[in-house]
Amino acid sequence: MTAHMRTSAEPAARASGARTSGGFGVVLRGIRKQFGTSVAVDDLDLDVRPGEFLTLLGPSGCGKTTTLNMIAGFLTPNQGQILLDGQDVSRQPPDRRDTAMVFQQYALFPHLTVGQNVGYGLRMRKRRPAEIRVLVADALERVGLVGREGHRPGQLSGGQQQRVALARAIVVRPKVLLFDEPLSNLDLKLREQLRLEIKHLQRELGITSIFVTHDQTEALVMSDRIAVMREGRIEQLGSPDEIYHDPANSFVAGFVGQSNLITGTCTGSGPEAGECTVRLPGAHMLPARLVGTARPESGAPVQILLRPEALRLATTSTDPTVPAGLTIDGQVTEVINEGSVATVVVRVTDALRLRVAVPDPGGRGLPSPGDAASVVIPPGVARALPN
Ligand SMILES: Nc1ncnc2c1ncn2[C@@H]1O[C@H](COP(=O)(O)OP(=O)(O)OP(=O)(O)O)[C@@H](O)[C@H]1O
Ligand SMILES: [Mg+2]
Repeated sequence: MTAHMRTSAEPAARASGARTSGGFGVVLRGIRKQFGTSVAVDDLDLDVRPGEFLTLLGPSGCGKTTTLNMIAGFLTPNQGQILLDGQDVSRQPPDRRDTAMVFQQYALFPHLTVGQNVGYGLRMRKRRPAEIRVLVADALERVGLVGREGHRPGQLSGGQQQRVALARAIVVRPKVLLFDEPLSNLDLKLREQLRLEIKHLQRELGITSIFVTHDQTEALVMSDRIAVMREGRIEQLGSPDEIYHDPANSFVAGFVGQSNLITGTCTGSGPEAGECTVRLPGAHMLPARLVGTARPESGAPVQILLRPEALRLATTSTDPTVPAGLTIDGQVTEVINEGSVATVVVRVTDALRLRVAVPDPGGRGLPSPGDAASVVIPPGVARALPN
């Protein structure tokens, strides 16, 4: 049945000019948007590659939705240009841009059936009914909703409604798919599942996608690249790996993933090129790799990033399973066991508390608050961030 539907739908999709690979680029140049005197998006430059899955990630109010709405044409920038496939669309209305948006609240027509909702954009484009039927069936199959054509949105679960919205967006094969927190209303299990499904669908269709979320895990799991936003600007643009392991500054480090952010003092260059040596609170000396524009002078304060999972907990200084590195003694103040991983907080001094992630804690015998413990910082894991 599945194979039959695909083969019957694809020639029609090809005949209608749908692209199954390639995709279109989106370029934002010096985009600014003000509401009254408040600046929502500030001189923003962004180059989204053809076929890419790019996520705008940032806290509430940082300008994600505003940026997306300007790309879709729902808002006009006060300054700057938006190029879609090389064409300046900055002053074009939404229906001339060939983008499709998936919203957090689904935004389906309640009085129309699933099939009519999905086919809506095709009817607006004056496609023939027979062609619409084939394309709608193909889209519904791709989102796992075969057999639901005749239902109304109100008869579906939230996850199913979002699948309808997704089918409605892809069925017109837009140049760009825009997603504004589409998974935020769903429970965690469903969210995790739909993340992967959307990602697979996007790969399969090759449609350039811009995805907005404030959920860092979602961004890390789904994206080719992530733009981390703060107060209307992009703080860092990079692959999930770059954003996580080499955050450009302490804002990005604090926003993405768990982190120990410690203020130390730079005492000079480190043993390796591109490192500085940092005195931590409590006087331990630690070499740290300089990230981005970080060039601290000797005697200056410097922010150090240590990811909890890069640290090791040693209950005895001769524990053979613990790697070499700087060992710092302290006392356990907190143990947070989440099942597959536990976080142990070790107080060294009031100014130095280290969170250590302990994987698979079940079999390991976690320490208890009050126990003495040592934290080992293996070589090469510390990052010195720009202030
Ligand atoms: N129509 C509007 N009128 C006035 N101010 C607005 C309007 N839309 C957005 N803003 C302001 O612009 C800033 C950016 O808002 P935006 O909705 O883009 O943020 P966001 O990153 O999408 O946040 P969230 O994660 O909460 O959805 C905020 O300070 C917001 O209050
Ligand atoms: Mg928003």
